Amino acid sequence: MRRKLVIGNWKMNGSRAANAELLSGIVSGLKDVNDRADCAVCVPAPYLAQCQQELNATPVAWGGQDLSIHASGAYTGEVAASMLVDFGASYVLVGHSERRAYHGETSELVAQKAVVALAAGLIPVICVGETLADREAGNTEAVICAQLQAALEAIPADRLAQVVLAYEPVWAIGTGKTATPQMAQQAHHFLRGCVAQKSADVADKMRILYGGSMKPDNAGELLAQADIDGGLIGGAALKAADFLAIIHA
Ligand code: PGA
Repeated sequence: MRRKLVIGNWKMNGSRAANAELLSGIVSGLKDVNDRADCAVCVPAPYLAQCQQELNATPVAWGGQDLSIHASGAYTGEVAASMLVDFGASYVLVGHSERRAYHGETSELVAQKAVVALAAGLIPVICVGETLADREAGNTEAVICAQLQAALEAIPADRLAQVVLAYEPVWAIGTGKTATPQMAQQAHHFLRGCVAQKSADVADKMRILYGGSMKPDNAGELLAQADIDGGLIGGAALKAADFLAIIHA
């Protein structure tokens, strides 16, 4: 049985005051669910220190939203894996569709980021997903397979078990349009099959999260699907009550 995992992706949102309220709301509402699910928030880099302070010794883990492939040096604006680790991060998102779309990140670069994250002891959450045009052209599986393939080729087999995957159809992110549970299940099942070509055992254990307008009112049905092992939550992760409702689902 794979343990469910719910990750909040704050994107570029937050302030020290708002975060303090949100984090304490999440922690105080969690309590008993921790036996059944893992939970984390991926925050803008300046707020990692605040997470470390407020979430230390709680069941809520934290992480970054991106990282550099370089260890240190003349890379203005970038954040190294060791810096995330220095602030107690456990997770890092790689290849979010917003990084791919606005920063031109290729699947090869995303794969390299996952390798660097793993080497530093971080759990990379590798995001894949098709655009509406891809889906309408019947290319969903080809697109998400190609995005994943680069990572499968780059990551050594003995490290693959630490990876988390996230299926995030681009047309569903922040739009209020959610993939139906059947559509999402089909994509997750397909992705698990791609991983199984490298290792059936790892595929069986790998957690594949759904992301794209997951909300309290649709989370239950999505999370009930056989291959949906949790959620990567954007908008609904910014309100403690909504985020908790999804975790409880
Ligand atoms: P959303 O974002 O839940 O607001 O659609 C999900 C994500 O981008 O990770």
